[in-house]
Amino acid sequence: MYTQLEQRGMVDPPINVSTLRDMKESGEPIACLTAYDASYASLVDAAGIDLVLVGDSLGMVIQGHDTTVPVTVSDIIYHTKMVARGLRRAFLVADMPFMSYSDPGQALQNAVQLMQEGGAMMIKLEGGEGQIEIVEHLSRHDIPVCAHIGLKPQSVHKIGGFKVQGRDPEHARRMVDNARRLQDAGADIVLLECVPNEVGEAVRNELHVPVIGIGAGPDVDGQILVLYDILDITQGRTPKFVKNFMAGHDSPLAAIQSYVEAVRDKSYPQPEHCFS
Ligand code: KIV
Repeated sequence: MYTQLEQRGMVDPPINVSTLRDMKESGEPIACLTAYDASYASLVDAAGIDLVLVGDSLGMVIQGHDTTVPVTVSDIIYHTKMVARGLRRAFLVADMPFMSYSDPGQALQNAVQLMQEGGAMMIKLEGGEGQIEIVEHLSRHDIPVCAHIGLKPQSVHKIGGFKVQGRDPEHARRMVDNARRLQDAGADIVLLECVPNEVGEAVRNELHVPVIGIGAGPDVDGQILVLYDILDITQGRTPKFVKNFMAGHDSPLAAIQSYVEAVRDKSYPQPEHCFS
């Protein structure tokens, strides 16, 4: 009963939503990474990662698709279950796949499955103005939500490619506004992908919930990358924000530890990983 009370006295207690908010408030950078199976999850956890995402990027790095669009709710549940078994301290977030949250009822049903069957502690959805009602509905049912804005990979066919977002000042202003509306609707975290540094900073300053960036510059509350990208497993062209942390390290654990250190001491990202 109330194991969380016992965990409070631990040297290194499990991370929860309050820990992440406290980290934002105290300016302690949040180190996040994706994982898709139990072995890597235990390495990532041992390296000190704060938040693990079972991302629909698994469609690309595990299943070999060109986009995240073919990923299903069952795929995410399968991988989330495995990742959950490998974690002790890190906070576990699972992605809602393409078209699994097209109306509030469907979103709630799928989010409940990701939490009850998969073991996720929060769900992530790609959201803009159109998803505010869905975030509100999930939040009203006490489902913790991470809202993913900026470049939304599930919209790749609509946007016409993986492109930097928010370069035009009007678009940037709308993005900041949407981030605040998603927060006000109940989002507990905002994830911001592929935007110029100033947009990352503006969203971070506007919100009281943590803002996690991927290609959003140094002035956000935390960083996230795809595990297989930082371990140099991904073949072909990788996005500008990717850094190969295997370089100079002789094991995946050492590489992930070096990523955690780089996020914490803010030596990652450097200007060559950022957009203007
Ligand atoms: O699916 C995923 O891995 C993601 C990250 C790129 C943040 O959404």
